Amino acid sequence: MNETLERWSTRRAFILAVTGAAVGLGNIWRFPYITGENGGAVFLVLYVAFVLLLGLPVMMAEIMVGRAGRRSPVASLGHLAATAGASRHWRLLGLFGAFTVFCILSFYSVVSGWSIEFLVASINGEFRGAAPAEVGAGFEAFLADPGRMIFNHTLFLLMTILVVAAGVAKGLERLNNVLMPLLYLLLLMLAGYATTTSGFGTALEWLFRPDFSAVTPLVVMHAMGHAFFTLAVGACALMAYGAYMPDHQSLPRAVGAVAVLDVTVALLAGIAIFSVVFSQGMDPGEGPGLMFVTLPIAFAELPWGALWLSFFFLLLLLATWTSSINLAEPMVATLQGLGLQRGVSAALVGLAVWLLGLLTVFSFSSLAEWRPLFGMNGFELVSTIPPEIFLPLGGMLIAIFAAWVLPESAARRALGVSDSGFALWRMVTRWIAIPLTLVVLVAGLV
Ligand code: PFF
Ligand code: NA
Repeated sequence: MNETLERWSTRRAFILAVTGAAVGLGNIWRFPYITGENGGAVFLVLYVAFVLLLGLPVMMAEIMVGRAGRRSPVASLGHLAATAGASRHWRLLGLFGAFTVFCILSFYSVVSGWSIEFLVASINGEFRGAAPAEVGAGFEAFLADPGRMIFNHTLFLLMTILVVAAGVAKGLERLNNVLMPLLYLLLLMLAGYATTTSGFGTALEWLFRPDFSAVTPLVVMHAMGHAFFTLAVGACALMAYGAYMPDHQSLPRAVGAVAVLDVTVALLAGIAIFSVVFSQGMDPGEGPGLMFVTLPIAFAELPWGALWLSFFFLLLLLATWTSSINLAEPMVATLQGLGLQRGVSAALVGLAVWLLGLLTVFSFSSLAEWRPLFGMNGFELVSTIPPEIFLPLGGMLIAIFAAWVLPESAARRALGVSDSGFALWRMVTRWIAIPLTLVVLVAGLV
């Protein structure tokens, strides 16, 4: 990439791309199960607070760096650091981001593969009239079958890498533009159905009445990590998109719209899923299978349930597809920056992610009890450490760069708002977002 870089043709295109990156498994799969494991409402309150206090300012910081640099993340950081008379080592932050998305994409692809499996199963009518226990048993059997999981993982990764190699992500985002509102409608419909179930009241109470005595440093750290993860912030992945942002667009407005959408998608999914959990007497903390077991049960009770369920998984796949394209992009751009061709870079990234993905695959069968670090198995490691430690750490460093290193005039222009708006952003970033991230990270790790 260089300074002649093409801009997004419209303001809308930028918001679409960022929404595509943000809305994905984080909202519909990860949010409910992590909330379930961390006590419900307490986690939700903390997560929303972190989205507002850290997620938004740091997301702006990250996009500002890309917008001010108008290059790939590594090149933007290097160029801007040089202009500001700071160390060229800031470029390493781009490499750290590439490593972070590498780990994340490895499990993201495998879990998106689960959606492919469920899409096919629901088209085949396998959930029609299935009792809740059968749905659960079917999922367990699937997890125990690495062959099927590898097949789906391969398929999903190929879909991602092909789009990245061909550079047609924009076409997909336009499709997303049409289909994302449908996903939203489907979730609304599910949440509407949830109000008629016996578990609805308990679900609301569990999600919205916090018991603050349950707060621990670890819960706080999980909530912060999830805020970064769901907004796709902290890995320089959005920085790449910022490079294409038109000059006269207000960044806070764009970012605010994306965050509202992202949080409401998660809330709708949460209401639907926890209503099923409490109606069926299930365990909210049952883990990564939560969405895959509850939603087939919910849809099975609706008229034309199998059809809606197929449609749901199709839309979910589309949402995870655009997120994983965003995850792959920084790695491909980094390799390209080393002089490799785009196609070759994409193929190498695909191969490496595929291999690391096998760790997640086997963590549900033969390697389930192999716990190399912190008592976590392979899947738990790649799905916990990068989102909860690497993203906040990367995000904090990006924020330090944008709020302390970047020359004020460049930062002001990149934010695209009035002077008082800029002053507010800088104050919140310098004195709230950066120290708070550090404190939560240190407290959580200790
Ligand atoms: N925000 C995505 C989701 O909620 O599914 C996941 C994600 C994408 C995380 C891109 C990090 C990233 F850089
Ligand atoms: Na998200």
